[in-house]
Amino acid sequence: MATYHQIEPKVALLRQIPDDEKGYELDLFCVPKHYEEDLDRVIIPHGLIMDRTERLARDIVRDMGGHHIVALCVLKGGYKFFSDLLDYIKALNQNCDKSVPLTVDFIRLKSYCNDQSTNSVKVIGGDELSTLTGKNVLIVEDIVETGRTMETLLSLLSECNPKMVKVVSLLVKRTPRSSGYRPDYMGFEVPDWFLVGYALDYNEYFRDLGHICILNEKAKVKYKV
Ligand code: IMP
Ligand code: MG
Repeated sequence: MATYHQIEPKVALLRQIPDDEKGYELDLFCVPKHYEEDLDRVIIPHGLIMDRTERLARDIVRDMGGHHIVALCVLKGGYKFFSDLLDYIKALNQNCDKSVPLTVDFIRLKSYCNDQSTNSVKVIGGDELSTLTGKNVLIVEDIVETGRTMETLLSLLSECNPKMVKVVSLLVKRTPRSSGYRPDYMGFEVPDWFLVGYALDYNEYFRDLGHICILNEKAKVKYKV
């Protein structure tokens, strides 16, 4: 007898970048001159990030449409994705019968030093979370690695009793350090590499790079603090 496997839609809709992904040579695209020596390969070109983000916007509006959404940007790494995702949601609002009123909030968290996640996640600025009571909140994050940052934020947020909380992360890292936490919406699942670009940083550098790239070992030493 045939067995039928239920395919979980979120998993099926996720682009998984395999461990043997070679990416693209830097020379195929434009990267800032000041970073040419620091990068190995382009892993996700900017155009592909945008195309995937457009689709995430559509999925989010499909599920959360009809409600007022407060989009909560996790700074600093989330700012590019946040800005582009909201542009796509705005475009849908302008061109569809159904539209979602949007407001924005910001929170600044810090958990990283060099290329290592530290055990403490600190809120180091942003709006008061208490304003989110009773609201439908969409948390917008750049990358989930261990899951600790997001679990900390979700538990802080739950103290303020929002009506609904959904999380969208552009990237999710495939790593044994993961707590098992998975966001509601994900752009790409990536191997256990340290990635920079599109606002993801290494000690504040590389946010001004359009593509998502792998940093080389020399650069890790060069920009170490
Ligand atoms: P987590 O708490 O381990 O899930 O880490 C999440 C945070 O660490 C993200 O919000 C990022 O700011 C940062 N992070 C994790 N992996 C990377 C990476 O590969 N490049 C840049 N930042 C990263
Ligand atoms: Mg982040």
